[in-house]
Amino acid sequence: MTSSSYLLYLVSSVLFILALKGLSSPVTARRGNIYGMAGMAIAIITTICLPQIANYSLILFGILIGGIIGSIIARKIRMTAMPQLVAAFHSLVGMSATLIAGAALWSPESYGIGSPGNIPGGRLIEMSLGAVIGAVTFSGSVIAFTKLQGILSGKPLRFKGQHIVNAALAALILFLLIMFCLSESRYIFMLMTGLAFAIGFLLIVPIGGADMPVVISMLNSYSGWAASGVGFTLGNPLLIITGALVGSSGAILSYIMCKAMNRSIINVIFGGFGSSPGASAQGDKSDKPVKAGSAEDAAFLLKNASSVIIVPGYGMAVAQAQHSLREMAAELEKEGISVKYAIHPVAGRMPGHMNVLLAEANVPYDSVFELEEINNEFATADVAYVIGANDVTNPAAKNNPQSPIFGMPVLDVGAAKTVIFVKRGMAAGYAGIENELFHQDNTMMLFGDARKVTEDLVKALKA
Ligand code: TAP
Repeated sequence: MTSSSYLLYLVSSVLFILALKGLSSPVTARRGNIYGMAGMAIAIITTICLPQIANYSLILFGILIGGIIGSIIARKIRMTAMPQLVAAFHSLVGMSATLIAGAALWSPESYGIGSPGNIPGGRLIEMSLGAVIGAVTFSGSVIAFTKLQGILSGKPLRFKGQHIVNAALAALILFLLIMFCLSESRYIFMLMTGLAFAIGFLLIVPIGGADMPVVISMLNSYSGWAASGVGFTLGNPLLIITGALVGSSGAILSYIMCKAMNRSIINVIFGGFGSSPGASAQGDKSDKPVKAGSAEDAAFLLKNASSVIIVPGYGMAVAQAQHSLREMAAELEKEGISVKYAIHPVAGRMPGHMNVLLAEANVPYDSVFELEEINNEFATADVAYVIGANDVTNPAAKNNPQSPIFGMPVLDVGAAKTVIFVKRGMAAGYAGIENELFHQDNTMMLFGDARKVTEDLVKALKA
């Protein structure tokens, strides 16, 4: 590699770091994205111009196919399907890491790492780590994708002795990895990689829906480490750096999410946490009565409030109700009513999901608050307007140790003078559990599609 390519790789690395920094806040996220795109463009062009690149037509063909598929997906994908798309992309990173490691083993000369039977020990370690982590990422991400897409049930699938089987498999993979590094045997490589595919599958199937966000971010981290391992095999410093950035930022995000959901990071890494046999996805079967109101009733309550806190959730994203919500807030603000938005760290189906939608509707950033910033304010709020959110408000997280979400911090909407729940029926949220707040005295259910209901409410407010 020439010194100018090293320099350009350094520039891309700095741009990637700036991208991560930018993406840490909705205010700077757009700029962060631009840094990321510029960094990636420099990285790709520099790599294509490396002297060892022999076949341009194949690369350009690949870029063309990948570019077309990527553009179509980017245009068509719904915001609510983003998590499964991310899981699908992680699976591709995992698979390519495994395939590159395999290709390097079968044809080491092409990678400049010796000849068959004479690959240096260090290279064999990098290669096997890339293959194993890549295989775990691939099968784990495929399972995460099928669960999020609803192909497989979101319920945790468990069997007796699962943890013992996982531990035994992990020990066997480690043993095979050592044997492979000592022998360079292709059979051991295939066996080790096959077992890594199996353990990725076994680690993710027992994980229930409510814990999927952490799993996705953990798989994101794994895919980064796999890419980094492959970077060593290919002797490409930028891939090592980029992989390490993805690996570490994914791990940090997982840690932050675990803290937000009161989960143990160790349990995430080893799979099968947070699920409960008590979880049911069938909705509220309670006989207790609920009070349902109309858009006019809600408008009356809101008009007479002096402070309103809006709690958006997954249903708002499904209904694309953010614009009418913004309009509703504007109507209330005209009357001098204080309107704030409370965002739970795992509201919706991906980190930052609600922030992105609210930003799209031009909701000012200074009226959007994180859980810990606003939770105490519900006690003094007149109305909590919960639009398409459920699990993130469920008090079972605080008072039912059997609940799959027990220990997760939740928004204290029940403490407001009145709670308005906007949803279509009595169906449960993602975790599949009942929410006793629906039956509370100060709750009014406003049944209907979040967007339609909010539009009706705006009309009623204007009237
Ligand atoms: P949920 O608990 O999933 O509840 C969403 C509610 O929205 C449902 O009860 C549903 O009830 C209602 N809804 C659906 N479509 C609607 C529509 N068109 N109009 C009105 N209401 C509609 O959402 P949440 O409170 O945001 O919690 C998120 C959950 O997802 C958590 O359990 C979290 O762990 C999990 N999760 C989060 C992520 C990330 S990273 N954020 C990723 C994966 C999973 P009806 O069907 O009765 O309308």
